[in-house]
Amino acid sequence: MCGIVGYLGVEDAREIIISGLKRLEYRGYDSAGIALRKCDSGTFHIYKDKGRVARLEEIADFSFKTCLGIGHTRWATHGVPNKVNSHPHQSEKSRFFIVHNGVIDNYKELKSEILNGNKFVSDTDSEVIAHIIEKYSDEMSVNEAIRKTMSLLEGSYALAIIDTYNRDKIYACKNKSPLLLGLSDKGTIISSDVMALVGYSTKYVPLKDKTFVEITKKGYKTLDIIGKEVEHEVKVIDVDYFNIEKGEYSHFMLKEISEQPSVIRTIISKYFDKEEVTLNGDISKAIKESDRLYIIAAGTSMNAGFIGKELFEKMAFIPTEVHIASEFAYNMPLLSKKPLFIFISQSGETADLRAVLVNIKAAGYRSLTITNVKTSTLAREADHYVEIHAGPEIAVASTKAYTAQIVVLAILAYGQSDKHINLRKELSKVAISIENIIDKREYIEALVQEYLTKRNCFYIGRGIDYYACLESSLKLKEISYIQTEGFAAGELKHGTIALIEEDTPVIAIISQRSIGKNTRSNLNEVQSRGAKTLVISTNSVHEHGDQIVLDDVYELFSPLLTIIPAQFIAYYAALQRGYDIDKPRNLAKSVTVE
Ligand code: AGP
Ligand code: GLU
Repeated sequence: MCGIVGYLGVEDAREIIISGLKRLEYRGYDSAGIALRKCDSGTFHIYKDKGRVARLEEIADFSFKTCLGIGHTRWATHGVPNKVNSHPHQSEKSRFFIVHNGVIDNYKELKSEILNGNKFVSDTDSEVIAHIIEKYSDEMSVNEAIRKTMSLLEGSYALAIIDTYNRDKIYACKNKSPLLLGLSDKGTIISSDVMALVGYSTKYVPLKDKTFVEITKKGYKTLDIIGKEVEHEVKVIDVDYFNIEKGEYSHFMLKEISEQPSVIRTIISKYFDKEEVTLNGDISKAIKESDRLYIIAAGTSMNAGFIGKELFEKMAFIPTEVHIASEFAYNMPLLSKKPLFIFISQSGETADLRAVLVNIKAAGYRSLTITNVKTSTLAREADHYVEIHAGPEIAVASTKAYTAQIVVLAILAYGQSDKHINLRKELSKVAISIENIIDKREYIEALVQEYLTKRNCFYIGRGIDYYACLESSLKLKEISYIQTEGFAAGELKHGTIALIEEDTPVIAIISQRSIGKNTRSNLNEVQSRGAKTLVISTNSVHEHGDQIVLDDVYELFSPLLTIIPAQFIAYYAALQRGYDIDKPRNLAKSVTVE
């Protein structure tokens, strides 16, 4: 979600900031802006507008050299996306320019209590920050004014700040929203995401909450909120983290769907030694010592969590609950005596999960993060983390991270099981079967043309297939904007069947012998009411006429297969409608606000 890139150094700031913002486009945003200092005259210039970073390139003046600047992509939370609400925002007398990621919960109170009488030009919550800093800098140093402002802000913020009276510095601070420093001998980048450092630096400093930073040409200084200097660890980013080109594919989503077999093989290579699972012993111990697992996640990662629940309960007999992070944060259920919290997050930055992590840590509970980004906040702050090794996922709609999360959950569950299957062999079979589906994608494209003709659609299934339906429908709605729900097949008749009319598409997922027949009865019910039905089944349970028949795999792993045609269905439905597949409207890759 949204992004910040600032730069101070000997190279051209505009170029570094704009290319950094482009690297952050995958996160989702609706406006972009930049404030730059002209090298020769020292004057500051702001360019901003609704729309893409490409729009910024159109409106920014490229005729002068720039040595310092701050840039922003906005995902609007307060005020519509338009030029005025775009960042950077200025203080009342235009002394300070700020860019902000996050949400200031108490901005209305701050306006009335501290800034009574000030004139605001935007509808954003962010603008108050610039005003407050300016107000306090009349009475104290800028450094103190910013730290005092931090102490008043409630909510989340990553901020980069320019003081036009101190033209050789950038200030920054953060709480809850991610922010880091990218280091090189040619200058310092301040950014919300390591992706912005591509081609510039592989060394970075992740900043802790309530940290204040002063960046100068000579380097940087990090202070806590009371002004005490604090040390921050310098980390190195893996170079393959930057492997983010589309290559021969027309979209990142198509590339990422196609990468799933190789991701599974990578995970096998990382977590197996011959046939044995090699997982950090502390993690196995933490799972073994707990009496109940609490999976906390959102969106696709939560859907992977539901499959994880099946795996932990059916393979390892460990009671497991799955919770929506944003609900759990404010409505915690009664917990067992020895809970272990498992946070599943592709990005490792989702604010709803972080809110839960902070609460459960304060209560003294243990935590494990399963993530694709080992440098992320959730990986850093949990007691343990496991990497899913999916490689960078750029398309907003998550595909390979979902399958990778399930594979890692299977490995964790297997570690606690009686080892009744050869896991390595079963997962290798899955990888081959996914390749078989990928080879048939043109056939799926034709089915989409024939079946997905309406404004709505249903996915139905039972048991583990129901959980696969949840993810299948999420994929479809995210990028094709078709109104779609994943339903427990038996539940449809209790109300929702009222929505079935002539030619309503209903897609059934059937992979389990024990309940396949029941789903087929529910399919008959909707067919009798005019639905146009399409069946995704596995070989051993398929019936004549099923449109998509997949290989048989170990039954609990069937979601790793049934999701693949569903990902293609979503992809082709969006392609046929001409939508922006990798950057769907209103969505963000990494949701860093609660
Ligand atoms: C996936 O397609 C979505 N864009 C979204 O639901 C996502 O899974 C969710 O926001 C959680 O993100 P995370 O895995 O990075 O925590
Ligand atoms: N809350 C701010 C706004 O709506 C910042 C949003 C963001 O993080 O991009 O402008």
